[in-house]
Amino acid sequence: MRTVSNISQIRPIISSAKQRGERVGLVPTMGALHAGHIALMETARAQDDFVAISIFVNPTQFGPAEDYQAYPRQLEQDARAAQQAGVDLIFAPSAEEMYGEGFATYVEVEGLTEGLCGRYRPGHFRGVTTVVAKLLNIIQPDAAYFGEKDYQQLIVIRRMVNDLNMPIEIVGVPTVREPDGLAISSRNRYLSDEERAVAPCLYQALQAGATRVRQGATGAEAAEQVKEILAKEPLLRVQYVEAVHPETLQPAEYGGPPMVIAAAAYLGAARLIDNIIIEEGTDDA
Ligand code: PAJ
Repeated sequence: MRTVSNISQIRPIISSAKQRGERVGLVPTMGALHAGHIALMETARAQDDFVAISIFVNPTQFGPAEDYQAYPRQLEQDARAAQQAGVDLIFAPSAEEMYGEGFATYVEVEGLTEGLCGRYRPGHFRGVTTVVAKLLNIIQPDAAYFGEKDYQQLIVIRRMVNDLNMPIEIVGVPTVREPDGLAISSRNRYLSDEERAVAPCLYQALQAGATRVRQGATGAEAAEQVKEILAKEPLLRVQYVEAVHPETLQPAEYGGPPMVIAAAAYLGAARLIDNIIIEEGTDDA
């Protein structure tokens, strides 16, 4: 496994993999690798011959009051985890390497970025799509892997790749959870013991909402029920709970699946997000 921080070093490594006829997969991350990231790498490992990951805490996707400075940075530890997962290449650039002097070009997906997290994190998805477009151009993978945990991000990136005719398969990977249901996240480390004990209620409430949807409830009814359950937990400050169509991300004003119920809530310093995908014709949550 190699770790490279310059864009100019990447191209020859990827070209020679491609010349060997290898299919290249990319897993973009911000590091602080955990079991969710590892699942993405394992999915890539199973489908591709050459697996690259990027580790880059992307300044353009953090708001001024957000945790860009505090975000965990632990490259050595991450490199060991990536090696164990069978990764071939880590691209870990500096902010200067990615956003050189005079940088002025941004990629923005309209519509899909307006609701859910986009409403509360202005500019966030513009930063995400800009950096992901750059990473896809730098690595030029055949496939790129994203978690369903960040459901809106996955849908926004699919739209970008489609709209900009990037010849790259976007693969969504199911959310990896702790045994008690909490979606694994780098930000879970901000939780105190007391907050950590409360955290699984987010997914439990989403599961209750999903049950209602499978019984025919509308998105608004299901979201209302999730909010009522979460309101009983004094430590939790709910930002939003919304039921949307899985592809358009428009409010699900109809009854029953398909639907995604997505939620964001603060628990102490941590902003937790989670969602549940309710597919048509299955009992799976
Ligand atoms: P980061 O939060 O590091 O997440 C990297 C990838 O891991 C994303 O695709 C995310 O959805 C996925 N992921 C995180 N937790 C997961 C879990 N519990 N189960 C499954 N997948 C999980 O998302 C970003 O970084 C950035 O926005 C990025 C796409 C790298 C652009 O900067």
